[in-house]
This record gives sequence, structure tokens and C-alpha cells, in this order.
Amino acid sequence: MERHPMDIATLQQKKQRGEKITMLTAYDAAWSRLLDEAGVDTILVGDSAANVVLGYRDTLPVTMDEMIVLCRAVSRGVTWAMVIGDMPFMSYNTSIPEAIHNAGRFIKEGGAIGVKLEGGTAVVDTVRAFVRAGIPTVGHLGLTPQTANMIGGFRCQGRTASTARRILDDALLLQDAGVFLLVLECVPERVAAEIAKRLKVPIIGIGAGGGVDGQVLVLHDMLGFGRTGHSPRFVKRFGSVGAQALDAVSRYCREVRDGTFPAADHSFAIADEEWAEFQAGLGKAKVASRKSKGRKG
Ligand code: KIV
Repeated sequence: MERHPMDIATLQQKKQRGEKITMLTAYDAAWSRLLDEAGVDTILVGDSAANVVLGYRDTLPVTMDEMIVLCRAVSRGVTWAMVIGDMPFMSYNTSIPEAIHNAGRFIKEGGAIGVKLEGGTAVVDTVRAFVRAGIPTVGHLGLTPQTANMIGGFRCQGRTASTARRILDDALLLQDAGVFLLVLECVPERVAAEIAKRLKVPIIGIGAGGGVDGQVLVLHDMLGFGRTGHSPRFVKRFGSVGAQALDAVSRYCREVRDGTFPAADHSFAIADEEWAEFQAGLGKAKVASRKSKGRKG
């Protein structure tokens, strides 16, 4: 049965009905196809691509051009899920016209339905400008990795009454500016649930507990794939794809080296008479090449 592509109204209805919204990151067509088939509602082409797939030390160096290539690949793999492009550091912070230009690239070149950007009061005017320009926009509050150095590092935000209040106020401002979804990262469960209760737009949590309207995780983290080192508390591993891939690649190396792979099943045959004719032709070819060498000399 044909499924109607995920849209903003459907996400809104899910919140109203109390149905949880699913979001995962993806960075290429192979994985976005799989996520789409599994029924994930929204796919974020996160700037986490910087460290997850591009090998940078954090998210800051990734460029618009890199993000567009990844976003376009993700969009190609999707028939149903909503693709959201994550605006990289400094792609929306210098001027509103430049921000609109970059956000527009995610839609026009990347095939995304909307864009996500981090921040509260500092980006409200930009969000308004995006919405005026017809660019569906997702906010991101709490732990905002692009400005982690300014908010005391990668730690839970909103643990005091005043910081919790600031996040709520920012959430209301962003809603007022027109975001259609809001990501809350690393915020105490009760604070996040209260924000979800007070806002009309769906709240997607990551490290924000179960009282919000949906969840997002970085695909590679939840699959146990690709990232090394410390895994944040909020990550649940739903698979061990890294371990399986390592095992498969190690077996491939072993089998190539010991000649077990490729076996007859993985090879193609030539009919005996064709082979005989080919061999006979090789003999003549040798003679012919010797003759022509002799002539030259
Ligand atoms: O870049 C990313 O993957 C994100 C999610 C963690 C929300 O912003």
C-alpha cells in the first residue's frame, strides 16, 4: 500500500493523539532506505556526521558543502520519512541572508523538507526569517553541541530552577517564531516533560527522558557502530552492528588470504569448447607477437 509521505500536520496530530514520534540520524542512502523501510518518521542528517562519518574531532568543522552531499544521498534513499538537514556551525550565525541561503540549499539541493538549527534567543530572528521564507524549521535547545564550549561542555542543561526556566522561555520563543519541532538534548526528565506539556509543537528528546513527544538518537550510537570512546548515558544500544561488521571484514580477509573465497559459487564459468578455442588462440597470439618483434629487429 502507498504511504503518504510524513508531513508537519501528521507530526502535529501524533502529538495530539499522544503517539510518540521517531527520529534517527542518517548520512547516506543505504541507511536512510533502511530507516524508511523500518517506518522511522523523521530522519535527521545531523551535523554529528562530522565525527560519526567524516572523522572530525567534533561537529564544528563540517561544511555546508559536505552536509549537502550527505543530505542529498539520504533524500535519495527515502520514499516516506521526513528528511531534515542540520545546519552546521557558522552556516546560520553570521547574517540572516546567508542563513536563508544556506537553509535553502538543504531544501533545493539536499532534498530536505526542513532544517534544524541550535539555540534560543540568539536565533529567534533567524527562525522567523526562515519561516517567512517558507523553510520549515526545527529548533534545538538544552545541550547544544555547537556551543558546548560556551555552556560548560557536554553536560546536562537546566538542572537549576533558573536554567530550567530559561530553556522553557526559549522553547516558547522558538514556538512563537514558528518552529514545527523542537529537539531537547540532555535536559532533566521532569523539565523536558513540563516543556512538552506547555508547548503545542512536538518535543523530540535526546537524553530528555520519556515524557516528551518523541525520541532521537544518533544512528551509529544506537547500532553500536563507528564511534569509539565514551558513550553518553542517554544512548541505548539496540544493536552491535560494529562488532558484526568487524567479524565479517575479518572473515573476508582470512578467506581471501587462505583462498576459501571466492568459491565456485561466487565465480563464473566458460564453456569447455570456448575455453579450448581461447587457449588455442593464445598459442597463435604468442607466435604472432614473436614474429612481429623479429620483423622490427
Ligand atoms: O547532529 C545530530 O545528530 C543532532 C542530534 C543528536 C539531535 O543534532
